[in-house]
Amino acid sequence: MNAADAITRRAGAEPIAAAIVLGTGLGPLADAVAEAVAIPYADLPGFPHAGVSGHAGRLVIGHLGGRRVAVLQGRVHTYETGDPRAMKPVIDTLKALGVPRLLLTNAAGSLRPDMPPGSLMVIEDHIALFGPNPLIGLAGDDRFVPMNGAYDAGLRQAIASGAAEAGIPLFEGVYAWVTGPSFETPAEIRALRTLGADAVGMSTVPEVILARHAGLRAAALSMITNLAAGLAPEAPSHAETKAVAHAGAAAMAAVIRGCLTSLADA
Ligand code: HPA
Repeated sequence: MNAADAITRRAGAEPIAAAIVLGTGLGPLADAVAEAVAIPYADLPGFPHAGVSGHAGRLVIGHLGGRRVAVLQGRVHTYETGDPRAMKPVIDTLKALGVPRLLLTNAAGSLRPDMPPGSLMVIEDHIALFGPNPLIGLAGDDRFVPMNGAYDAGLRQAIASGAAEAGIPLFEGVYAWVTGPSFETPAEIRALRTLGADAVGMSTVPEVILARHAGLRAAALSMITNLAAGLAPEAPSHAETKAVAHAGAAAMAAVIRGCLTSLADA
């Protein structure tokens, strides 16, 4: 049995309006899902093992903001396996289930002193020039995926509405993807700033590229957990990333709930 069949068998075949990938420390957001059916990734053929602390590794299907959603509590990062395509089986499963939208969340460092830890930033575009592309090695002309408008305008608008309704300020900016797992040097952060990045992180971009390849609409929301290297007196740490993201998970949940409610169609 493939993963899509396993999910339908356990959670039913009702259409799913959106899938939501939870970033580091943002796992508690899954607790906001009503009538939840939780399925460990280990029960889903092809699904990866989510091994980083701060990630649970299960799929939670239920209702949030009046929509049926699939919450992916745990992702695999390129730095875990060296494979930027590790999330492809998950995205292919969403496609097989007919899920039209993928909303990704992450923890990110800020390159802007006016966007402090605790801020939420909707990604308007990304820079991914320094890491391997997840489509390398795939065959077919459809691997030449255009990335204009990769971050869906309608979904971004819904996120902005969700934030406005919840009274939560929302930044908008460019996310620079780095593979990690080491953090950046201050010189790298200055370089990324010069290139036009507002935030930096180690996730999301491979999934957005895979989602566009699969024909899913994508959007992403960053929880700013720290000022990037060289912008603060102390160096960034994974402990800080987890703690600040955890503290901001309720705000992130409120924005996502409002976003789902304000989607134009189911
Ligand atoms: N750099 C890269 N990834 C991150 C950071 C950072 O400063 N903070 C959270 N994820």
